[in-house]
Amino acid sequence: MPFFSDKLSDRAKRLESAAIHKTKAVIADRTARGLESYNFVTGAVEFAMPEALQQRSDEVLHKAVLGEFGAVGGQVDTIDAILAKFKRENSIAGKRSEVIVCNGGKEVLSQAVEVLVNKGDEVVVFAPYWPSYESFIKREGGTPVFVQPDTESMKVTPEKLKAAITDKTKAVIINNPQNPGGAVYTKEELEAFAKVIEPTKAAVIADECFELFNYSGNKLTSFATLPGMRERTFTVNGIGKSYGKPGLRIGYGIGPEELVKTMRDLQSSGATHANVLGQAATAFLLNEVGQSHVPELDDFVKKNRDIMISGLRAIPQIKVHTPDSNYFAFPDVSGCFGMRTPNGKTLKTSQDVCDFMLDNGIVALDGKYCGMEGHIRMAFTLQPEQIEAGMQAMQGAFKTLVRVPGSQTELDTPSRASATARGA
Ligand SMILES: Cc1ncc(COP(=O)(O)O)c(C=O)c1O
Repeated sequence: MPFFSDKLSDRAKRLESAAIHKTKAVIADRTARGLESYNFVTGAVEFAMPEALQQRSDEVLHKAVLGEFGAVGGQVDTIDAILAKFKRENSIAGKRSEVIVCNGGKEVLSQAVEVLVNKGDEVVVFAPYWPSYESFIKREGGTPVFVQPDTESMKVTPEKLKAAITDKTKAVIINNPQNPGGAVYTKEELEAFAKVIEPTKAAVIADECFELFNYSGNKLTSFATLPGMRERTFTVNGIGKSYGKPGLRIGYGIGPEELVKTMRDLQSSGATHANVLGQAATAFLLNEVGQSHVPELDDFVKKNRDIMISGLRAIPQIKVHTPDSNYFAFPDVSGCFGMRTPNGKTLKTSQDVCDFMLDNGIVALDGKYCGMEGHIRMAFTLQPEQIEAGMQAMQGAFKTLVRVPGSQTELDTPSRASATARGA
C-alpha cells in the first residue's frame, strides 16, 4: 500500500478535485493529439484592458514591494480601496477591520465556510450553483441543502427558501448575479429573502463576484444593505471576474469584525496574506478604473451571449433561456435523452451529452455539478468567431443523433442535488 494511503485525514478524504480542472486535462490531451477543441468550460473573459490602463497597471505592479511580508488580512492601501469601492458602488460602509483580502474570491468563500461550518451544520445553496460551494461545505462535514429554481426564470422563491431553512442552518449562500443560471434578483426579491432569513439564526454569504456582468437593466442591490442584514452578512467580490484578471488571484470580503478577525487568524495560519502584487493591482483597478470599462465589457459579453444563445436555439433538442447576467448559457439538454450517437451509444444523462460533445471537440460542464441534471453549462468567453465556429460544430454533431423508437426521454438519473434538496 502506498505510504500515505492510510494517513490522510478525514477532512482531506472529503476533498474533491473541481470538475472543471478535470476537463482542462482533457483539452490539453486533445491539443497534444492535434485535435480541435472549443473550450466552453472555463469561465474567464478573454477581454483586453484598454492599452493605457494596461500600461498604468503594469507600472503599479512594478512598484509593488517585493521581498517583504505584507499584512495579514490585506495591505492598508488595498483595504482602503476596497472600502471606498463598497461604499461608492454598493452602499456598504465599513471599517478596515471588517475587510479581508484573499487569494481569489474562491479563497474568501472557502475560508468563510471553513470558519462557520461545523460537522452536521446545513448550508442553503440555490441551484443552479457554482460547484465549489458544494465542495467547501462537504469538506467541513456540513450538508449542502439545495433549493431548486423555477426553470424559466432560474430564480428561487422565498417560499422555497423558507422550506429549506431549519435549526441546523448555519448559513445561506446568495450568489447574485448568479452563476450559472444567469438570474439577477431584484431589490424586492432580495427583501423577501431577507424577511424569511431575519427570524432565523442563519448567516448570509453574499457572493457578488459577477456584479459587473449584469444585463438585467436592474442595478445590483447588495444584500448587506437590506434592513437588518448587515450584521449577519459577509459580502464577497474580487477582480477575477470584474476586471478579467483571475490569474492575479485577488478576492475580498466585507463583514462583521468578529467573523473577519477569525478569517484573518485562519489566513495567518496558512497563506499569511494574499500576494502583494495582486493587491497593488487591485487598489489601482478599484481606485482608477472603477466601473469605467463596463460599457466595453457589456458589448463584448452581450455579443458573445447572443451568438451562443442563437446557435443553441438552432439545435432542436435543446431548450435555453437568455441569461441576464454572467457569461454562461445553461441549456436544458434532456431533449436528447433516448437518442443514439453514431457510435451506438444511447444518451441518458447530461454527462452522456457532455461526453458526446467532447468526442466532437466541444467542451461543456455537466449541469449535475451545478445541481441540475439534464442541463449543461457553457461559457461564452471565447472570441466571437470561436464561439460561432464552436456552435457550427455543435449543430453538425447534434444532427448526427438518431431518435431510438420507443425510447424514454425523461430524466432517468436522479439529480445529485435531490438527496439533500428541500423546497424543491
Ligand atoms: C460564483 C462565483 N463566485 C466566486 C468565484 C471566485 O472567483 P475568483 O476566485 O477567480 O475570484 C467564481 C469563480 O468562478 C464564481 O463562479
